[in-house]
This record gives sequence, C-alpha cells and structure tokens, in this order.
Amino acid sequence: MAASLRSLVHEASGILRQADVSDVKRDASLLLAYVLNEDVGYLYREPDRRLTEEETRTFKQLVERRAAREPLSHLTGHREFWSLDFLVSGDVLDPRPDSETLIEAVLLSRSQGFKPQRVLDLGTGSGCLLLTILSEIPSATGIGVDLSDAALAIAQENARRLGIKARAEFHRGSWDIDLGEKFDLVISNPPYILTGALADLQPEVRDFEPHLALDGGVDGLDCYRNILSNIRNILRSGGQLVFEVGIGQAPDVGKMMEKAGFSSPQFHKDIGAIERCVSAILRD
Ligand SMILES: C[S@@+](CC[C@H](N)C(=O)[O-])C[C@H]1O[C@@H](n2cnc3c(N)ncnc32)[C@H](O)[C@@H]1O
Repeated sequence: MAASLRSLVHEASGILRQADVSDVKRDASLLLAYVLNEDVGYLYREPDRRLTEEETRTFKQLVERRAAREPLSHLTGHREFWSLDFLVSGDVLDPRPDSETLIEAVLLSRSQGFKPQRVLDLGTGSGCLLLTILSEIPSATGIGVDLSDAALAIAQENARRLGIKARAEFHRGSWDIDLGEKFDLVISNPPYILTGALADLQPEVRDFEPHLALDGGVDGLDCYRNILSNIRNILRSGGQLVFEVGIGQAPDVGKMMEKAGFSSPQFHKDIGAIERCVSAILRD
C-alpha cells in the first residue's frame, strides 16, 4: 500500500539526517509539497493522503539528490529572496538571506534622503539584488552585469517574471566595464571566499554552486580591488557604493573604499550580527 504524507516526511527526514543535511524535516516537507504542487501547510491538512506510484518515485528521487547534498533550490528551481520568488539553477549563486542586508542598507539611505534613479549591479547572478531594489523603488531603472551568459539568462527571466523587464537591462562584462554612463548607485556582492577556503565549504556550495561566484582570490578581496579601481568610470560623484562582504572583511573593505575616494564607510550587520555590508558615498 502507498505510504501516507506523514510517513513519507518521516522516512525522508531519516534519509536526509543520515546524509548530514541540516534542516531535515523542513527539506523533506518542502520537497513533498513541491511534488504535490501544494504549499507545506497541505501536508498537515491532509496527513493521511496517499501518493500515486509516480509521485512516490519522483519524491524518492528528489530525496536521494538532496541526500547527495544538491541544494534544495536546485531541486525545486526556486528561491525566495525578500519575499520575491526567484528562479535559480546551478548557473547562479543561490540568493542568501544575508544578502537582504544590502537591500536594507539601500533602503535605509533612501529613507535618509538619498534617492537613486540609476542602479548598477556588478556580478548580478540571478538578478536578486538589482530586481529587489527596482521592485522597492518603482521610479528606478538599472543594469545588471555578469561574466556568465547563463546567469544573465536567468536574471533576464527573473526580471520578466517579476514584471520589471522594462526597467532592467543585463550586460555581459567584467569589473572593468564602462557602460558610457555614471550611475547613482552601484551595488555588488562579488565572489569573496578565499581560494584556500573553497575546499572546506559545505558540499551544497562547494560541489553545486558556480566556482565563478565564489572565488575571491588568495585574500578574498581581489574583486573589491578590481571594482574600486574602475569605480570613477561607473559611479557619479556623490553616488553611493554598497558592497556585501564576507565574515571579517568589512574593516579591510572599508579602508579600501576610503582610499578609493569614499567618505566615512557605514557598516551594516546581518541578522546574525555579522558586518555584512559596507556602504559609502563617493567624494568629488
Ligand atoms: C557571489 S555571486 C553574487 C550573485 C548575486 N548578485 C547575489 O547576490 O546572489 C557573484 C557573481 O559575480 C559574477 N562574477 C564573477 N567574476 C566576475 C567578473 N570578473 N565580472 C563580472 N561578474 C563576475 C559571478 O558569475 C556571480 O554571478
């Protein structure tokens, strides 16, 4: 006889626990809800429902892939960021809750009177940062830049799905890009993992996320240096730069920004009380 939803979640949680997955019941429930095309609450409303053979097979395959530490978002193809739904794949960094700190930093300075109209996102990946800012500031337009064509295709599709296509453009390019205009706001969550630390990342990141999105060079700061060396070509005087940084990198990145002509960097903490973003205004 086919198993009930309740027992399937229980069984899958056991398999995921064996594989050292961290939040097993949550992942098992989300995968089962995904197979049924229902919300997670459905599993509790209908705990005794039986799956068809086909549904059971699909669910078991997904649980096996999750047990091999493939990220949940790669299995469902979606990830929520700032309460918006983003398409994701192995071609883009999975949007992280920590990165919402960058959105908060932009909205904080907006509430203090800085009103950006043109936004540039360097290393846009899924487009989550640029598109979230554009969804929060309906009068703004922007450009997302990435070296990865596959990432740009996903960002473009996310812009379409979120109804922001007319206000967001995407271009292939690197940190030294010159788009022939200077923006009010430049944001970037560049790769910042130390090359030597890549092998120690958890399997979901190390084995499934794009290397191009992770490797920040020997001291993790290469991309900040490269972006700052080009900053006067892309950001207007009086414009704002907001960087996401890795754990412990905020003081160094703040100093680099001051050296590049920015005034008094501000540090912004994430929900784990880690300094996650550095923002500053470019002096004349
Ligand atoms: C850490 S991910 C951030 C993605 C997205 N902005 C986010 O916050 O989820 C860094 C992104 O930078 C891109 N990237 C890496 N090197 C680059 C370069 N030299 N020029 C432009 N983009 C680059 C990667 O492809 C990746 O999409």
